[in-house]
Amino acid sequence: MSKSPKGGAPRTRNAQSKKGGARKDNGPKRGFSAKRDTRDNRDQREARNPRDTRGGKKDSAAATRPNRRDQTRSAPATTVVEPIVREHKPTSARFTTPASVLPVMVEMNGWDDYALLDMGHGQKLERYGRYKLIRPEAQAMGAPRLPESEWKSADAIFTGDVEEEGPGRWKFANQVDEIWQMKYGPATFNGQFMSFRHVGVFPEQAAHWDWVGEQIKKADRPLKVLNLFGYTGMASLLPAALGAQVTHVDASKKAIVWARENQELSGLEDKPIRWICDDAMKFVEREVRRGNTYDGIILDPPKYGRGPNGEVWDFFESVPHMLACVRKLLSPNAQFLLMSSYAIRASFLSSHELMRECLDGLPGTIESGELAIRELDGPRLLSTSLFSRWSAPENNKAEGA
Ligand SMILES: C[S@@+](CC[C@H](N)C(=O)[O-])C[C@H]1O[C@@H](n2cnc3c(N)ncnc32)[C@H](O)[C@@H]1O
Repeated sequence: MSKSPKGGAPRTRNAQSKKGGARKDNGPKRGFSAKRDTRDNRDQREARNPRDTRGGKKDSAAATRPNRRDQTRSAPATTVVEPIVREHKPTSARFTTPASVLPVMVEMNGWDDYALLDMGHGQKLERYGRYKLIRPEAQAMGAPRLPESEWKSADAIFTGDVEEEGPGRWKFANQVDEIWQMKYGPATFNGQFMSFRHVGVFPEQAAHWDWVGEQIKKADRPLKVLNLFGYTGMASLLPAALGAQVTHVDASKKAIVWARENQELSGLEDKPIRWICDDAMKFVEREVRRGNTYDGIILDPPKYGRGPNGEVWDFFESVPHMLACVRKLLSPNAQFLLMSSYAIRASFLSSHELMRECLDGLPGTIESGELAIRELDGPRLLSTSLFSRWSAPENNKAEGA
């Protein structure tokens, strides 16, 4: 049983637990099985849950690729598959323009505390630390591979989709701790059953955390990193552990408190992280006015969001201005810029072209594509999101770009 990170009484949740707003389960204690729902049900579920922005295109080549599951689980491998490289000529005699590499399929193969065990019929079966969870997944359009007994052994299921049950909620088949710990590299963090299916980490982002880590090591100098929409802080803690000076921005006080608890759990309290609760757009506009710059910028915006004072974030409306500001915040010898997106209607190509437009004049490379999770011991990939990322050329260690 895990202790409250604040040192309070241990918090435990079981099938009859009735504590806590959206997370409470008033239903009778009962087991559950993997839902084998119909196409109609899935269509209705999609219509009812427009906030489920996770997804992208299915990789038809995935089934023919070799299974990479035999790699060691403690060192998560990121595989970049057969990118098409398009070199862009400079747009003017004065400027160079980043080269383009796309499409890039980045695979996240799981790690000690995370595995995609199976997926199908609109759901996924995952392991987060010691718990097996079932969550809705619109992109899981095929059939489950594992026997039903595996799905029945899950500790919790998020059901949000059955009309008579109203908005989504967790149901617990076994006794579970309300908060439990997981690890990724030097970071220890709390998992927690949140309303709207999340548990406090987007595990596929591990591939991006690793890429950011590579950029920091490549630069071989202390970098100033800005993490916008930083949530529970993994993309702030891991760069900080590598010596970066990090500014973390999120609109949610609760997310910042959680991120600080994760910093404490990780023993990284002495690392220089500025925790800022603000609207991301307002923050970057202010930083531009102040003339501040950063060597690396990470942004993982939602499709829709709200700043602390009700400021509206709408991916399609807001991203062009956000990237224009972010461009101004890149230091003369900046090392990287990473934007990921769960906005299902966007394509990595449009995010690529926008980033290329914004970064005109910089050397280096922009890669764009999809981020996918490979299932444990299985051949299939689950598309989660799209991304565009820019990195400086190799010789960018000290001189201006
Ligand atoms: C998709 S999550 C980011 C996930 C995170 N990058 C990670 O991998 O752990 C979106 C975050 O954006 C924050 N957010 C939403 N609207 C915002 C806004 N206008 N300004 C700042 N943060 C916002 C939410 O509070 C939430 O923590």
